[in-house]
Amino acid sequence: MKIAVSNEINTLERRVALDPDRVQRLSKSGFDILVEQGAGEGAASSDQLYQDAGATIVGSKQDLFQQADVILKLNKPSVEEVDLYKENTTLISFLDPLTDHDLVKKLRDKNITSFSMELVPRIARAQKMDALSSMSSLAGYKAVLIAADALPKYFPMLITAAGTIAPSKVLVLGAGVAGLQAIATARRLGAIVSAYDVRPAVKEQVESLGGNFLEVDLGEDTETEGGYAKALSEEAQRKGQEMIHDHVKGIDVVITTALIPGRAAPELITEDMVKDMPAGSVIVDLAAEAGGNCKLTKAGEIVVEHGVSIHGPLNLASTMSVHASQLYARNIIALFEHLVEEGKLNLDFEDEITQGACITHQGNIINERVKSLVDA
Ligand code: NAI
Repeated sequence: MKIAVSNEINTLERRVALDPDRVQRLSKSGFDILVEQGAGEGAASSDQLYQDAGATIVGSKQDLFQQADVILKLNKPSVEEVDLYKENTTLISFLDPLTDHDLVKKLRDKNITSFSMELVPRIARAQKMDALSSMSSLAGYKAVLIAADALPKYFPMLITAAGTIAPSKVLVLGAGVAGLQAIATARRLGAIVSAYDVRPAVKEQVESLGGNFLEVDLGEDTETEGGYAKALSEEAQRKGQEMIHDHVKGIDVVITTALIPGRAAPELITEDMVKDMPAGSVIVDLAAEAGGNCKLTKAGEIVVEHGVSIHGPLNLASTMSVHASQLYARNIIALFEHLVEEGKLNLDFEDEITQGACITHQGNIINERVKSLVDA
């Protein structure tokens, strides 16, 4: 079986879907690995390293895809790229299938067997395949470093000959995977950390990391059966915002990570709240790609409003491309190994992971949620 790894289409992307370590592991298991020339450059993995690990370097995408039985990617392919794939190729990648229906239809019509990394079920058995968590954790860490760099203050308390410096105060909004990593990182740097999430279940996790959990009685059920946040009623949203407004008046750094799957990010920080934050404070909005948690966020930009610098970074995981690629490669290979037996694809659609992550197979859309959205 020939497994192909290509250059990502987005030229700003520095990650790669397979690192030389995983190539070596797959080669030893008897798979042929083809790597497009330069695919690992952004992640400090040269063609030579891939060759040493047992891969063959291929000069062009056309050549690569024409030979591939399985294609491993990070970012979704364009519809034009899928035109280069052979019929019946297997593709594993982030695919954005809940919103990019043109791509799903293209994969279905081209008879591609496709698996989406973002739809791997969040169950204990699939934790090692959970690329969303791997990437969110990197982003949470990096967000705190961005804030620490932009803040004109120390994070930790310092006792100096010139007197004592008070520690900075960090507020983390949304205590999912990224938020928890942000809390842990800000604590390690010595800040005083508080956090808020609509899911009360995270209180214990926040406290175990040394954060102070801000509680608000929203008066409604806030969590789906799958453990994700629900969209709030206007009244509950207002209650949450009031509490945040009171709290941000004394905060130096706000890291926002609140997301609701398949929807625009909830607005947690209004312009009035920004006005009331101390001058020089910093907001890092990790939800920028989904519209932002702060009213004033501009995706991909840093803006200064009312004396507060507001950062809307995109794809932070790519800025840590070496570890991001290593982690992603382990996640994607864990899923791949789940799907193969004795060197061949062996799909068991009774299995929750296979069924949940499979988007298209033999001209059909398999994932029920994606199917109902595309058919609607
Ligand atoms: P996410 O990226 O979808 O959202 C981030 C956080 O924002 C969540 O904690 C969410 O509750 C919060 N949020 C949403 N709306 C908000 C609002 N209006 N105000 C404040 N906070 C708000 O979430 P992520 O990080 O992907 O994790 C979501 C769930 O998945 C969690 O329950 C987590 O425990 C679970 N999970 C399970 C795994 C497993 O069992 N394999 C692995 C990873 C996560």
